Amino acid sequence: MRFHSYAGSTERMRLRPYAPDDFDAFLDLHGRDDVSRYLPWETRDEEAARAALERHQQLDLEVDDQGVTLAAIDKESGRLVGEFVLFLRSVEHRRGEIGYVLHPDFWGRGLAVEGSRHLLGIAFDRMKLHRVIARIDARNLASAGVLRRLGMRHEAHLVQNEMFKGEWTDEDDFAMLRSEWDELR
Ligand SMILES: CC(C)(COP(=O)(O)OP(=O)(O)OC[C@H]1O[C@@H](n2cnc3c(N)ncnc32)[C@H](O)[C@@H]1OP(=O)(O)O)[C@@H](O)C(=O)NCCC(=O)NCCS
Repeated sequence: MRFHSYAGSTERMRLRPYAPDDFDAFLDLHGRDDVSRYLPWETRDEEAARAALERHQQLDLEVDDQGVTLAAIDKESGRLVGEFVLFLRSVEHRRGEIGYVLHPDFWGRGLAVEGSRHLLGIAFDRMKLHRVIARIDARNLASAGVLRRLGMRHEAHLVQNEMFKGEWTDEDDFAMLRSEWDELR
C-alpha cells in the first residue's frame, strides 16, 4: 500500500504524511527527553530532526521492513498531536507492527488508542494483514496501557533483550490477529 496522498480521520484527529512545514512541531516532539525516553532514538537536535523528517517521506508499505509514519493533527487546534507508525514486517507471513509517539501536551486523553485503532484498521481491513505486533520497553507502563486498551494480547516478556541507552532492558511483546480484530468490532 502507498500512503503518499493518504488522508485519514478519527474522531479527534486527522492523519496524513508529514510535510516540510511540520518541521517546528516535529522538532518540538522529537527534541524532548520525556518523549524519547523509551524510544530507540536519542533526543533529536535540529540536524537529527531534519534527517528524521526527511526519512519519513518514505511512504510505501510494499516490502519487508518498510515503515510508514503518519502525522496526527488535532482537529480542534490544528496542532501536531504526534505520530503513528505502521511497519510491514513480513509480506510472506502478512505480519505488521505498530508504534506511536505523542506530544506530552496530548497525553492522558485516549488519543494514542484512537490513532492506533486507526492503524489497526489500515493493517487488518485494507492491507489484510494476519497478525500485528507491538514491542515496548517493559518500563513503559503508559504504552502497555495503550496496547491493553486496544485489545492486544501480552505474549512475551523478554528479559534483558536489548542494550538500550547504556543498560540492559526488558521488552514486552503484544499481538493481535485479524480474527481477533474482526471479533472486537
Ligand atoms: C505511550 C503514550 C503514547 C501513552 O499516551 P496516553 O495518552 O497515556 O495513552 P492513551 O491514548 O491510551 O490515553 C490513556 C489515558 O487517557 C485517559 N483518557 C482521558 N480521556 C480518554 C478517552 N476519551 N478515552 C480513553 N482514555 C482517555 C485515560 O484515563 C488514560 O489516562 P491514565 O493513564 O492516567 O489512566 C505516551 O506516553 C507517549 O507518547 N510517550 C512517549 C513515546 C512513547 O513512549 N511511545 C511508545 C513507544 S512503545
